[in-house]
Amino acid sequence: TETLKEAFEGKFHIGAALSANHINNQGQASMEVLNTHFNSIVAENNMKSGMIQIREGEFNFDVADKFIEYGEANDMHIVGHTLIWHSQAPRWFFTDSDGNTVSPEVLAQRMKDHIHTVVGRYKGKVKGWDVVNEAILDDGSWRKSKFYEILGEDFMKLAFQFAHEADPEAELYYNDFSMAQPGKREGVVKMVKNLQAQGVKIDGIGMQGHIGLEHPKIQEFEKSILAYSELGVTVMITELDLSVLPSPRRDMGAEISTNIEYQQSLNPYTEGLPEDVQKQFDERYLAFFKLFLDHHDKISRVTLWGINDGDSWKNGWPVRGRTDYPLLFNRDNTPKSIVKDLIELAA
Ligand code: G3I
Repeated sequence: TETLKEAFEGKFHIGAALSANHINNQGQASMEVLNTHFNSIVAENNMKSGMIQIREGEFNFDVADKFIEYGEANDMHIVGHTLIWHSQAPRWFFTDSDGNTVSPEVLAQRMKDHIHTVVGRYKGKVKGWDVVNEAILDDGSWRKSKFYEILGEDFMKLAFQFAHEADPEAELYYNDFSMAQPGKREGVVKMVKNLQAQGVKIDGIGMQGHIGLEHPKIQEFEKSILAYSELGVTVMITELDLSVLPSPRRDMGAEISTNIEYQQSLNPYTEGLPEDVQKQFDERYLAFFKLFLDHHDKISRVTLWGINDGDSWKNGWPVRGRTDYPLLFNRDNTPKSIVKDLIELAA
């Protein structure tokens, strides 16, 4: 076995997120890596509402269509990301022509139109949708997004119902970050139980894997896999990447953009990773994949948030121009040594 997808065959899908650059330049070397090692894809940005429905009723499916065509032609398990998300939602969604906040009825209708149009277009092609993204806060309470402010908790139920109407066969997921935090775990479990009690179809929970060298604790991550799985839904590890860079200080605020010294301190490895950090990186990825393999009966997919390190959003957050090494393939598309280790681990 020499590829990730062979190694995890029969356990879970192994996926990667594709950017517009990947989709528009399919001849590039990273696409070869994708085809060799991965069997599932998700669009990193190009199926979000702000990208697809720029103005009311004005849809742009150019990149999304190409993404789907690519997936079908290459026999990929295609995942849709994401229908309802407070971030990257177009502003018109929540306001009328006078700039006033719309009524619950109007917002629900807009959600319905958006979801029916997008899910309907890719019916039978997209196997599962991140229906709602990031609606619960780390303490387990509801995020006070526009969706929540206008519709209350019902927006969640409505989103899943509209998606189910548009493609009854598609799997429907809730996807969020910090899913190993105890407070969030409780909040998400409660929210999903509530949906289930109302007869709403939900098939899976996506645990975004934006992890660091220290956080989250692997034991807490495992507790969440178990807790979500006990709801009778599949668990997916989505958006996996392992940042080796220091986390930004939350109290820096606007100073981040002007304080050059601080910015440099956030970008310590421009020339490659020191050996000790590389070792921590390898151990951390191995430990997480060991966990995923131990629970492969509960996990249907593990998706990396990009193909090679150069793709990663982590290079541009929270300040532009960082050099991070969060993925499994180097910038030149060579596999990191961890790839071989993961293949051996799965054997
Ligand atoms: O739209 C402009 C484009 O016209 C321009 O060419 C480009 C040049 O930099 O900027 C473009 O938009 C950027 C977009 O990515 C596409 O590259 C946005 O500024 C930038 O904010 C956006 O970032 C994305 C982010 O979601 C938005 O919140 C990241 O690529 C994407 O990786 C990230 O993904 C999210 C998941 O969807 C949900 N979970 C968290 C995860 C990380 O934030």
